[in-house]
Amino acid sequence: MTHESRATFGSKLGVVLATVGSAVGLGNIWRFPYMVGENGGAAFLLIYVLCILFLGLPVMITEFFIGRHSHRNAAGAFKEIAPDSKWSVIGYNGVLAAFMILGFYSVVAGWTLEYILQAVTGSLSNKSAAEFANDFSVFSTGIIKPILWTFIFIALTHIIIVSGVKKGIERASKVMMPMLFIILVILCVRSLTLDNAEKGISFLFNPDFSKITSSVILSAMGQAFFSLSIGMGCLITYSSYFSKATNLQRTALEVTILDTLVALLAGVMIFPAVFSFNIQPTAGPELVFITLPNVFGQMSLGSLWSFIFFVLLALAALTSTISLHEVATAYVLEEHKMSRRKAALLVSGGILVLGIISSLSLGIWKQYTIFGLTFFDFLDYVTAKIMLPFGGMLICFFVGRRVDKKILKAELTNEGSITFHFFNTYAFFMRYVAPIAIGLIFLNELGIIKWINGIILQ
Ligand code: TRP
Repeated sequence: MTHESRATFGSKLGVVLATVGSAVGLGNIWRFPYMVGENGGAAFLLIYVLCILFLGLPVMITEFFIGRHSHRNAAGAFKEIAPDSKWSVIGYNGVLAAFMILGFYSVVAGWTLEYILQAVTGSLSNKSAAEFANDFSVFSTGIIKPILWTFIFIALTHIIIVSGVKKGIERASKVMMPMLFIILVILCVRSLTLDNAEKGISFLFNPDFSKITSSVILSAMGQAFFSLSIGMGCLITYSSYFSKATNLQRTALEVTILDTLVALLAGVMIFPAVFSFNIQPTAGPELVFITLPNVFGQMSLGSLWSFIFFVLLALAALTSTISLHEVATAYVLEEHKMSRRKAALLVSGGILVLGIISSLSLGIWKQYTIFGLTFFDFLDYVTAKIMLPFGGMLICFFVGRRVDKKILKAELTNEGSITFHFFNTYAFFMRYVAPIAIGLIFLNELGIIKWINGIILQ
């Protein structure tokens, strides 16, 4: 495939919105609150924000550099910049991560469809907090329904992927993202005016530093990578469609700020309600699904609000699954010279198999575990906490070692036509701080640092 024949995103706004569309999704509204809840609240949030700023942002700019500089997919990009090297392993790690993330993400995305239906049929109203929790558990551990929704969600993603890059992705993101933002603000206001709301706010913003453990740090780093869609070539693939005029640094900053803002809004929407309705913050993946219906129940026209909210959430999830699917499809299509239709079909089939297994692993296959985790949790853990940070670390190593700083600077400043005030700071973080910090967090979690300390102190 020649470079000229590749699609590009249409407008400037389209670029930012499509990338925000990839970043903002279930990661912000479903995964972020449950990670905060499981990892002790504000202390986690603090580390999360530090990870976003000092690891996430530099990695994102670096992915943008690789993508637009090479104009290739996640694996091909490395072959283009460093032919005859082993660096394309970063891309393979990414393609594999795309499959694995979609394997559990599509299941949760399917849950949002069930909630849309429930909002329409009115079965989300007039229930107690305990009933909502029980009903969700019955649904999500079932067999047919969740699998059917997973299938439908994958089919939707598939249709958009086959219809081409520009039309599908751009159209979907342009309208839906701003709407989602507005409804989140409305829900925050409702949640903040519930009884006991202040307890939730204190949980979210008043850090207890004794809660910071190596596992909390690893979770926060994983969440930062997951939420920003970095570490696996997703943004390499997207930025390969950027035009030469796109301001990469500014786009990265805007995407990072918007993504973090949405996560914070989700936190402010969820935690006051969690405490108000006596739900356990540590409830895990079900947290959002058992908390939100209670909030809607407290609003007039609650079913309408919940319908609008879950439609927008499903669409936010869709713009994210599209970006993940595109990583795998662009790879299969360009590296194995297949038609788009065939490549996409292959990818969708693979995801469906993983999706079915991970959905069943919450119910009838609960007893089959890998390292003590259900298949669903295993996919989530391995991708967010290992593959993405590992990929991010390698991406930094790659650009730090293989790319001439002049070429890097030329690409990031559009051949000198825009300024990059913090280029040296960025380069320093990308080359040294980010990879070393990620490496240390890994070693720490694995207990290796403790072990070395023990040897030194003996
Ligand atoms: N960031 C998205 C979310 O928060 C999920 C996602 C899309 C993703 N593309 C990704 C996560 C690439 C990791 C890597 O919902």
